[in-house]
Amino acid sequence: MNDTLNTIMNRKSVRKFSDRPVSEEAIKTILKAGMSGPSCVNSRCWSFIVVRDKETILRMADANVKYADPLRRADFGILVCGDLSRTEFFASAREFWAIDGAIAAQNMILAAESLGIGSCWLGTWPVKERVENQAKLFDLPGHIVPHSVIAFGYPAEDVPAGPRPDRPEWDEDRVHWEAW
Ligand SMILES: Cc1cc2nc3c(=O)[nH]c(=O)nc-3n(C[C@H](O)[C@H](O)[C@H](O)COP(=O)(O)O)c2cc1C
Repeated sequence: MNDTLNTIMNRKSVRKFSDRPVSEEAIKTILKAGMSGPSCVNSRCWSFIVVRDKETILRMADANVKYADPLRRADFGILVCGDLSRTEFFASAREFWAIDGAIAAQNMILAAESLGIGSCWLGTWPVKERVENQAKLFDLPGHIVPHSVIAFGYPAEDVPAGPRPDRPEWDEDRVHWEAW
């Protein structure tokens, strides 16, 4: 397997992070990866809020209400947001914004993995309460919609890389060749 495939196959959610800080250069590389994904009619209808301040990180975790503890221990968090002001070219199908946000999120997660930085995706959209809480926390304008929070940091736990019983590399039942 090549490096790209290794990164994809070895990615895993990391929920405990060390105190070792991630460099600003690495954070920017991760953001560039987020900006490199495909987007609907090249709308690039996302924005990212990068948070290193510990107090704000805790408030972000609270805003996501449940299952957000990994963020409390993160070196930094990114709130991926959709920018609805950039969706006019697909006004009849604006929901594409959420796909673009997910692609950006996954690209950042994979970039982090390739740099030895762990991450955990914390779902925000479409859980109304989480979306509203994050929007309030960051005082977002109406056209900016919180999509997902990602916790990042150097791992402080040894999560096995590669296929696992709950995440097999190959699942024949999920593949339908030529027809259902
Ligand atoms: C949309 C989405 C929402 C998620 N939300 C959370 C979450 O709130 N808390 C959490 O600890 N993990 C969350 N995860 C991570 C999943 O639990 C994890 O990806 C899954 O268990 C598979 O494990 P793996 O990432 O190690 O392959 C989320 C993942 C996705 C894609």
